[in-house]
Amino acid sequence: MFVYPLVRPLLFSLDAEQVHELTIAWLSRYPASGTLLAGATVRDPVRLMGLEFRNRVGLAAGLDKNGECIEAFDRMGFGFIEIGTVTPRPQPGNPRPRMFRLPRERAIINRLGFNNQGVDALVARATRARRRAVLGINIGKNADTPIERAEDDYLFCLNKVYPVADYITINISSPNTAGLRDLQQAGHFDRLLRSLCEAREQLSDRHGKRRPLLIKIAPDMEEAQLLELAQTARARGIDGLIATNTTTSRSGVEHRAEAGEAGGLSGAPLRAAAERVLRGLRGAVGPDFPLIGVGGILSGADALERRNAGADLVQIYTGFIYRGPSLIAECARALRS
Ligand SMILES: Cc1cc2nc3c(=O)[nH]c(=O)nc-3n(C[C@H](O)[C@H](O)[C@H](O)COP(=O)(O)O)c2cc1C
Repeated sequence: MFVYPLVRPLLFSLDAEQVHELTIAWLSRYPASGTLLAGATVRDPVRLMGLEFRNRVGLAAGLDKNGECIEAFDRMGFGFIEIGTVTPRPQPGNPRPRMFRLPRERAIINRLGFNNQGVDALVARATRARRRAVLGINIGKNADTPIERAEDDYLFCLNKVYPVADYITINISSPNTAGLRDLQQAGHFDRLLRSLCEAREQLSDRHGKRRPLLIKIAPDMEEAQLLELAQTARARGIDGLIATNTTTSRSGVEHRAEAGEAGGLSGAPLRAAAERVLRGLRGAVGPDFPLIGVGGILSGADALERRNAGADLVQIYTGFIYRGPSLIAECARALRS
């Protein structure tokens, strides 16, 4: 538990993506170090979408894109772990460098572009992993699939991950895949949701279990679009929303050289926008529709604020990088009912 503040200066002296790769390699090889790093798991069982979460704190998508460290993150005490974004075929993502730390602002800018080993590799690992945490699998499209064929990629991944996922997230909000966010526009969105929800009904019959489908949305939307999107999602049979992905805004980091880098901004500068979106969604969907809050949660107090804005569960990514695994228990305790 006290190890991370000691090793962080060393980790932060190296290239951000290199550290990421080293950490993933370490945790995948030595999953037991997860227990050592995090301390006791907070018990605060909550039932949502038909799933039993041991606490309300999850790992956000993108940190374990290939499902290599499920056991290590499980041992760290997360209530749920979202792996991916995964695409049908493996792809390298954008040229490096593509991930930048802004430590003073406690932020990250990334334009990784869904670098991943493809859905088959992820499913094989997820099938083998021993875990107690709920497992979400976040799916996307390959960069070279034209946007008008995006649906095929989502359906392909949905079919593959369905048997092993506890829930599935449809990622249409990454800023780093050309045209992806267009899928949030009304016509596209409705069509995509119709076919995904139809496919889910068939999968549900075939596998004898109904898996929740969630949509992950961007923070960079007009209020009216956001509300329409929430209502469509609900009407089509989507089980919950995850708000939000990274932002294309540079508000709060304008003065930094890295602000000129293309990509999505996460961490503390995203907090206010992510919270505003969450609050807006809660107003639009009413009290009972599942919402997961993510974006700029760097302390237990931030997690509680997000819960008060209407989040049933929260996820962390950038906060986990800056604060280390002790943030999991800190947030879970702050949210304990
Ligand atoms: C380096 C990096 C990679 C990410 N990759 C993904 C991804 O593959 N899929 C996804 O849905 N979100 C991805 N995200 C977004 C996070 O899951 C999260 O929504 C966002 O960073 C806001 O939360 P945070 O402020 O706690 O980081 C990524 C974020 C970062 C920083």
